[in-house]
Amino acid sequence: MQRIFSGIQPSGVPQLGNYLGALRNWVALQADNECIYCVVDLHAITVWQEPAQLANQTRELAASLIACGIDPKRHILFHQSAVPAHARLAWIFNCVARLGWLNRMTQFKDKAGKDRENVSAGLYVYPNLMAADIHAYHATHVPVGDDQKQHLELANDIAQKFNHDYGVEFFPRIEPLILGVATRVMSLRDGTKKMSKSDPSEQSRINLTDDADTIAQKIRRAKTDPEPLPSEVAGLEGRPEARNLVGIYAALADTDLDGALREHGGKGFGAFKEVLSELLVAKLAPIASETRRLLADPGSVDAVLRDGAARAAAIADPIVAEAERLVGFLKA
Ligand code: TYM
Repeated sequence: MQRIFSGIQPSGVPQLGNYLGALRNWVALQADNECIYCVVDLHAITVWQEPAQLANQTRELAASLIACGIDPKRHILFHQSAVPAHARLAWIFNCVARLGWLNRMTQFKDKAGKDRENVSAGLYVYPNLMAADIHAYHATHVPVGDDQKQHLELANDIAQKFNHDYGVEFFPRIEPLILGVATRVMSLRDGTKKMSKSDPSEQSRINLTDDADTIAQKIRRAKTDPEPLPSEVAGLEGRPEARNLVGIYAALADTDLDGALREHGGKGFGAFKEVLSELLVAKLAPIASETRRLLADPGSVDAVLRDGAARAAAIADPIVAEAERLVGFLKA
């Protein structure tokens, strides 16, 4: 049995990339692992969040996760700000990680863009907090989409330097679990850009809360090229939008790119988009309606998070207390 940890930001409604790259795998891993899943509100405020919305988004995201199939009774579901151990260990890691390491993080460069002087200091040390999230539980396996790989390598570097500096074998190595065919779902408007909850264009993504008409309309308008679908994977070369839609189909149909093209190669996009929309609606509509049902009783979602936070703290508190003792903090 392995201890799994992963997190998702409540910075908007979860989208199809979150689902295919992460959440579906989170659900599957519950069968034979101990899983700890976290709504990372501390990470969310590294960019501005409206206070009135952040709490709602945290609750709504928790409801979505339960609707996707996360089982908060057999596993742990909680929000990060409710367990202070994360911030305590993150501070220690801020003092372990080197500036040079953080300077190499491509996600920071992408998010900061040209306005580097004006982004929050939190955005810069974001990966240190991520490392703390995982290591506070001595978790060993971390299911994520492809975009988080570099952050997980940094989490290993931090753990290794901590162990080396303090002469211990305290934090274990972690393994990224980047699973499935759709580890990097791209924007529906631009096949070279990642699908993201923070993209200003609603048309760029499918939200897990979209209704059937919205899904069909977004897929109809998704950017494609004029050629029909190829019958072999090599034919997707240089066609990022086609590759993306076939990848989404393959993931939802539990097949691979070859399988999807065997079934649909030669079809025009008009026909393929119809099949894809139907499949999306069949898979996502039940999640949206279950999310709505859960949110009809917000108190019960909050109770799940409260219970999860207490169980999470029971694991993390002694581990982080030991890290603090190793650092030399007085435990009077
Ligand atoms: P976040 O909230 O951006 O995304 C949550 C998960 O969804 C994956 N993902 C995608 N996968 C495929 N295609 C996409 N277009 C796509 N967009 C997002 C992400 O890879 C992620 O797995 N830093 C993390 C949250 C985090 C975390 C952690 C993760 C905080 N602490 C500790 C693992 C362990 C993030 O911003 O995820």
